[in-house]
Amino acid sequence: MPSGWQFEAPLDTPILLAAQAAGIKLPSLCRNGTCRACLCQAHPGGASAPVTYRIEWPGLSRDEKRDGWLLPCCAYAGADLVIDAPDAARAAL
Ligand code: FES
Repeated sequence: MPSGWQFEAPLDTPILLAAQAAGIKLPSLCRNGTCRACLCQAHPGGASAPVTYRIEWPGLSRDEKRDGWLLPCCAYAGADLVIDAPDAARAAL
């Protein structure tokens, strides 16, 4: 959201890399869960996003996770997911 672009996110691929493979560029810097440049929210907000993390302490508070905030650089989709990422752009492939 809000573009309506869709992409497949394999279980073993972080959402950011899955988007990139589909030609969608999401904001990012560190790509390891610390800088929060990629921070976005599952749509609609206010519900936990169906994602998992393979790092112990992604840069999100418990409250942020509960409210649907996620870090696509290190989050893995566990189900269909709609993210609110207004700064997403089409990337050159
Ligand atoms: S790119 Fe730094 S936390 Fe995601």
